[in-house]
Amino acid sequence: MSTNPADPHVVSLPLLTHHTASRSAVTCEYRCGNACAHEAPNPSANTYFGDVVRRVLNRRGLLRAGAVLSLATGVTAAAGATAAARPGPGGHQPAAAPGTDFDPVTPNTRDSVVIPEGYEQQVVIRWGDPVLPGAPEFDFDNQSARAQQLQFGYNNDFAGLVPLDGAGIHNLLVVNHEYTTESHMFRDYDPDNPTAEQVRTAWAAHGQSILLVRRDPARGRLDVLPSHYSRRITLDTEFAVQGPAAGSELLRTSADPRGRSVRGTLNNCAGGVTPWGTILSGEENFHQYFAHADRVEDPTTRRRMERYGINTGASTRKWERFDDRWDASREPNETNRFGWVVEIDPNDPHSTPVKHTALGRFKHEGATVRTTEDGRVAVYMGDDERFEYIYKFVSSGRMKPGRSAHARRHNKALLDEGTLYVARFTGDSPASEIDGSGRLPSDGEFDGSGQWLPLATGDTSHVPGFTAEEVYVFTRLAADRAGATKMDRPEDVEPNPVNGRVYCALTNNSNRGAAEHAPVDEANPRVGNRHGHVLEITERDGDPTSTEMSWGLLLVCGDPQRADTYFGGFDKDRVSPISCPDNVAFDRHGNLWIATDGNELGSNDGLFAVPVEGPERGHVKQFLTVPKGAETCGPVVTDELVTVCVQHPGENGSGPENPGSHWPDGGDSQPRPALVAVWRDLGHRVGEIGRR
Ligand code: FEO
Ligand code: CA
Ligand code: CA
Repeated sequence: MSTNPADPHVVSLPLLTHHTASRSAVTCEYRCGNACAHEAPNPSANTYFGDVVRRVLNRRGLLRAGAVLSLATGVTAAAGATAAARPGPGGHQPAAAPGTDFDPVTPNTRDSVVIPEGYEQQVVIRWGDPVLPGAPEFDFDNQSARAQQLQFGYNNDFAGLVPLDGAGIHNLLVVNHEYTTESHMFRDYDPDNPTAEQVRTAWAAHGQSILLVRRDPARGRLDVLPSHYSRRITLDTEFAVQGPAAGSELLRTSADPRGRSVRGTLNNCAGGVTPWGTILSGEENFHQYFAHADRVEDPTTRRRMERYGINTGASTRKWERFDDRWDASREPNETNRFGWVVEIDPNDPHSTPVKHTALGRFKHEGATVRTTEDGRVAVYMGDDERFEYIYKFVSSGRMKPGRSAHARRHNKALLDEGTLYVARFTGDSPASEIDGSGRLPSDGEFDGSGQWLPLATGDTSHVPGFTAEEVYVFTRLAADRAGATKMDRPEDVEPNPVNGRVYCALTNNSNRGAAEHAPVDEANPRVGNRHGHVLEITERDGDPTSTEMSWGLLLVCGDPQRADTYFGGFDKDRVSPISCPDNVAFDRHGNLWIATDGNELGSNDGLFAVPVEGPERGHVKQFLTVPKGAETCGPVVTDELVTVCVQHPGENGSGPENPGSHWPDGGDSQPRPALVAVWRDLGHRVGEIGRR
């Protein structure tokens, strides 16, 4: 990166040196089992069905464009606060779109959460803080499974707030604990010989924490209150299997011969709050927890495991030594019991959480709901791996309004019956204009039309050669067969409650366009896509049940000074640089908020706001950055506050002897993943200067 000589923590553009992936090796190993270092497990031949199939890449043209761009970028850094302060035409400060009126944070590498001027922040809860009564005080050097079962888990990703009152003062807070980083959680950890206590501590550090929080209306703080809602969900919590694949032979194991009850949930990444007040959460990189797929004898089973990237050989965490269910050769069907969307009802601490088989099995990033005019619900979902797909589920039944116990019981069954679809995108520009460089085609946009291809409805399969059960349990294989479009790591896919369009973060894909992989297409237009892009889907007639759509790329991320980036047509001199979009959220105005994972521009990750309508459409502004080594996750944006999960701070370091961060406790402390709340001082609204 190039740094500003006046402040070594401020990152200036342009970037004159080459960056390798900025996510640390530790994060890659423990979060997703080094998915990017392995061959992407989608070998299917379904590349792209539109009229813009591009089978030969114009590599010479790409290199030439890159060389010209590097030489042309002579000026330093217009990003951040200075860029936003620049007057508009006529010398007037341009008006910010409502909700985005703040001075953007400059890209930086500070070991803190950096927020705009005039805002305040607070750590709401950290790894090891008490959740349940009797939780001991956190003691890094004496952590135990028993303590961890009562405490806030590790590596918080999604956070959801379910308001209990009209003013949003009291809320249920649900937080996902996506994965554990044993080498940073335990001093002197031996990855070849983990102890039983360390393994059980990790089982307890996964799952969810559920808490009652109170927002201070006079200030903005979010305080955890002791309550009967407090709950920890771990790898030992019982989940009920529901939907059309419940009881399937493919889900039966020695511990559960009926295939209807699973112990625990794993690698819960993003999620969503349902209109009926429950939480949906995606089981993402579950493959890495299993071992020895290579010892599976049945070739069909082995092929199916390969499509999901189940480990051959030992697993990173060696759990297979402590419970046979993690050994894919001993309990092959146990692998089929993860990779689902789970639903948790935080209103009832005694409720049994559910795995919804109708929503398919893949590396679910998250799941977010939109209600149709006739009361049905559509659920949008991404499969976060290179060359995987975007999915939608449409319920057959109709939602009962409200959040009463009766309505919740009814609505929790909605996601068990309906149609599961996968997306195919077709570009509208000639193939010759999609040359892999990121240069816009002559019609000025990466855009086109698309279809939602049905995979199964209830017990009926729409995919030749697949039973309905096989569609649900081996959804990736069914989607290959249906001819879905291979995307650049689909993460959050969320409907905008204001304009009804659907926004999908495509994080990156280093292999896009490589000789042995899928070529570029108009929906994934850059070779070796390092910075990712944001896709905007418009369902036909605005109807979430439609099988037809149009789409366009709202953002093509990266250094705004380079020609291969696009910011919704907005003036690129005035935007904050953004890289590797991951989670998305919306404020009351319908502005899109984007959290990043793995910023490839040399800055720490952050949270950005971008209007999607009017003259400010595409005006990306950075709202905050997170500390060293961390990823920004699970943003929630209301009028009164913004919350983000700061995941894996310090994973840039080698572990307890050499922490890469001392956030949040400072001094020489160990880093701790935590949830942070940010609010305007003097009780003003977020992003609305001067309004109370
Ligand atoms: Fe857990 Fe897709 O990030
Ligand atoms: Ca086009
Ligand atoms: Ca994510």
